[in-house]
Amino acid sequence: LRNMDKSWLGTSVDELNRMPQCAPPLTHLKVAHNHTVTVRTDLLREGELPVSYPTKFKDAWDDVSVKMPCSEKNLFPMETEDGGGVQSRWELIQTALHGGFKSCLDVRDAILRYNTAHAKKWDFTALNLLCTECLELCEVQHLFEVVLPAMVDLALSAPRLCTMPIPLLKSRVNHSLTLSQEQIACLLANAFFCTFPRRNSRKSEYCNYPEINFNRLFEGSSLRKIEKLKTLLCYFRRVTKTKPKGLVTFTRQTLNNPPTWESSQTQLTRLHITCEGTIEDDGYGMLQVDFANRFVGGGVTGHGLVQEEIRFIINPELIVSRLFTEALESNECLIITGTERYSKYSGYAESYEWKESYMDETPRDDWQRRCTEIVAIDAVKYRHFLEQFLPEKMARELNKAYCGFYRNNANRKHLSAVATGNWGCGAFGGDTRLKALIQLMAAAEAGRDVAYFTFGDAQLMRDVHEMHSFLTERQVTVGRLYTLLNQYSSLVCKNCRTTRPDVSLYSFIYERVSSPVTPDAPDHAKDSG
Ligand code: AR6
Repeated sequence: LRNMDKSWLGTSVDELNRMPQCAPPLTHLKVAHNHTVTVRTDLLREGELPVSYPTKFKDAWDDVSVKMPCSEKNLFPMETEDGGGVQSRWELIQTALHGGFKSCLDVRDAILRYNTAHAKKWDFTALNLLCTECLELCEVQHLFEVVLPAMVDLALSAPRLCTMPIPLLKSRVNHSLTLSQEQIACLLANAFFCTFPRRNSRKSEYCNYPEINFNRLFEGSSLRKIEKLKTLLCYFRRVTKTKPKGLVTFTRQTLNNPPTWESSQTQLTRLHITCEGTIEDDGYGMLQVDFANRFVGGGVTGHGLVQEEIRFIINPELIVSRLFTEALESNECLIITGTERYSKYSGYAESYEWKESYMDETPRDDWQRRCTEIVAIDAVKYRHFLEQFLPEKMARELNKAYCGFYRNNANRKHLSAVATGNWGCGAFGGDTRLKALIQLMAAAEAGRDVAYFTFGDAQLMRDVHEMHSFLTERQVTVGRLYTLLNQYSSLVCKNCRTTRPDVSLYSFIYERVSSPVTPDAPDHAKDSG
């Protein structure tokens, strides 16, 4: 086969590291000052439900923990004849949800009973359409007779299941949080019924956190919302039928000392590049990149339905990260290990459709987590094409990717490959060829190989492969590449008067590296250009 006809190029994917094969032995799961574990680690057994810790609900209503709907401090103003008083909001939630639902109007009424301030604004058209026009009669029956009542029980079990205060993963603090999948299901059922307090107003104390309550999912009449609801209801059907028995870890990682890129002597690592397949299907066991928003999950509870939002609805345990993850700063990422996939889908964005339930057979590690590691890294959104070639922007993206790929005290033979693709190049308007190079550099510096999914773009596959082979053959270091990127910025982009540069980044690199004078005389071109 000539390159023109191939669907993949570079290193065979079988040669790349995947978990669990490449994993180092895991240390025992234990609580630490930087790791909160909400279950009894001593009782953790394969195939058994994790036991919540502590036994009794510990109430925390402070600025370092998630404010829980079942907190005693969660109060609701009450209108009485003699003015006003307050009432326990959790009691109101219990009463409202225990009322039973005959139709989706009852679901709406229940939710609005403890969200009265939003009664006029919140709209439940999508939920209504789903129940009245999109589902078969027997599916609607099953929803109201089985699934929703089980979801209510699950939501209301919060004080028995989620007994330990959940720490907020705040900016600039490295911290891990390990929850059981059952606890996550309980928290997500609460999100579905919009019970989380202080989370419905943009101006609230949680303004630097993503939305968690699902009210916006029910709004509007777009088909997207219907398909998103179908996908999430598939998850709730599954977890209420059979309780999942594993754990999931959420780690906020801050990069305090970025590499000095210009002096890096690192050579590029291996690349497998393909125009077929997806990160989630074909990158199993690798470090899978979530093309994130700084508010993790982006528009998952709203209108969004591109890479990140799709990943969050097919692996809904990711959504709970929105409950406690403060917006990511430029040198931060969120690593999520152990989520399970529950749905198959087809299409993308407007054409997205939920297909059917998916049985995830990914093996579990010793902490009972699925060996699925996902890293949320948010690219910068570019309005003007040239902006991304500014040295500070390129450095920002390099450090962001490096923060996502780097693992502290890890031997590189134990590091899985990075499964990625056109990060930042869809909704965020980045250039695929620049972003591919940036990710290759970051992965090399972090000591990991790369599996790159071009999402159908065969030309991009060939171009990136050709560039990677060229750079590898000539042993161009990450430091040299960094200098070349900055030269491209100052020589080609800086004085460019059109919206796109006249010389492409790759032609510039080919020319510079091929021409014998450039390595030693970087100023030569500046004079003549
Ligand atoms: N596997 C591999 N590649 C994919 C996949 C997949 N499953 N899905 C999409 N692509 P985009 P961004 C390719 O636009 O530009 C969200 O709202 C495809 O070529 O999702 O970083 C977030 O919350 C696609 O065009 O990522 C952020 O707000 C490209 O990846 C924002 O979008 C980029 O996907 C991030 O936008």
